[in-house]
Amino acid sequence: CSSAEYIRIGLVSFISVIVSIFGKSFENIRYTKPTTIKTNCNKTKHILRIDMIYILLFPFNFFMNIYLIGMMGSGKTSVGQLLSKYLKSTFYDLDSSIEKRFNLTITEIFNEYGEERFREAESSLLFETNNLENYVISTGGGIVINETNRKFLRDHRVYYLNNSVETLYERAAKKRKQRPLMKNLTLNEFNLMYENRVKLYQECANITLNAENKTISEIVEEISNHEKFSF
Ligand code: S3P
Repeated sequence: CSSAEYIRIGLVSFISVIVSIFGKSFENIRYTKPTTIKTNCNKTKHILRIDMIYILLFPFNFFMNIYLIGMMGSGKTSVGQLLSKYLKSTFYDLDSSIEKRFNLTITEIFNEYGEERFREAESSLLFETNNLENYVISTGGGIVINETNRKFLRDHRVYYLNNSVETLYERAAKKRKQRPLMKNLTLNEFNLMYENRVKLYQECANITLNAENKTISEIVEEISNHEKFSF
């Protein structure tokens, strides 16, 4: 757990105790749905039967970044762009910022410097997002390959967008030129990559979303609903 995470859990617990002690005197507070505090670090859950807590803790939630992870073709960028508008936050695309840093496209970076240099830049830019507040951050599909990146993501708010391999392959193959790893990749090889990565995505994510047959708006709505009731 990062110290920020401990502070957050501490504050959530403290305020919830105060609300549960004094809240009953307010007529309009109803103790109905349980609110779940989810710690990113060890997946422990504390259940608190207080609806009111969402209102009280909204400001803490507000400054946190949301990370979107998933295979190529899972719609992270499209979902991220719309989600950021919906949540009145700012969108940040990690691949685009790598391109800006090199002043080259992803394919050119792979060709000129190789995948290893790309992965180094990807990691350092991921860590730099720690300086951002209230952003929706879309990551590249390979972000979870690196153990240090996974450790970073486990301590943050992460949504994994999942689809069937066929859908992912079909979508990713549409932009083969922009995706160096897709160059000559067959469906079987893509499937192998998916199988290798799926556990890593799940390991990092707070929430796995089944995005199959869902529109971008539907996925955004699902994430927003999760955001309303999770801390
Ligand atoms: C990659 C995914 C790409 C990009 C790079 C490598 C991967 O991003 O970062 O081509 O290893 O899966 P998208 O997932 O946005 O296509």
